[in-house]
Amino acid sequence: MTLARPGLAELVAGIREVAYRPAEPRATAFAVAETLRERLPAPEILTAEEQAGSPDTYIRHTLHTEAGFSVIAVVWRPGQRTRPHDHIAWCVFGVLQGIEYETLYRDEGDHLVEIGRVANRTGDVSGFAPPGDIHKVHNVGDITAISLHVYGADLGAEPSSVRRTYDLPVRER
Ligand SMILES: [Fe+2]
Repeated sequence: MTLARPGLAELVAGIREVAYRPAEPRATAFAVAETLRERLPAPEILTAEEQAGSPDTYIRHTLHTEAGFSVIAVVWRPGQRTRPHDHIAWCVFGVLQGIEYETLYRDEGDHLVEIGRVANRTGDVSGFAPPGDIHKVHNVGDITAISLHVYGADLGAEPSSVRRTYDLPVRER
């Protein structure tokens, strides 16, 4: 049985229209972001159980994979975070619930420099592409955050959307 995922089929069809056009990865990310903005699903794209998240760690749900892109939902309880990381392909994300806080870094070889902080609120959508895409995502709010991520890679075939994680010290500019 296939789970009913309200809004997923329309979203996937819309992304498919733009994801395969020949373009620079950044341009593809911006076009996919436009589609996600227009067709951003409600948190009910996840079941109630999925929306609840886990006390142990943030949880990823793979909703769709195909050759050119994958759609992943991520559920973050308050306090849950990633390590600083970058990505194997362009990435677009939209916030379905709560606030997803992002810290952006530049790689200086033996350390990272923080270059920005963004609070992505419910309904916000943004897209980016490597290189220069190191970030950490953190739920510092007091409600569970849910976001939808579209990656320009087949995550049914690739082990992860993460190219590498960074354990380097973070220094002031
Ligand atoms: Fe990321």
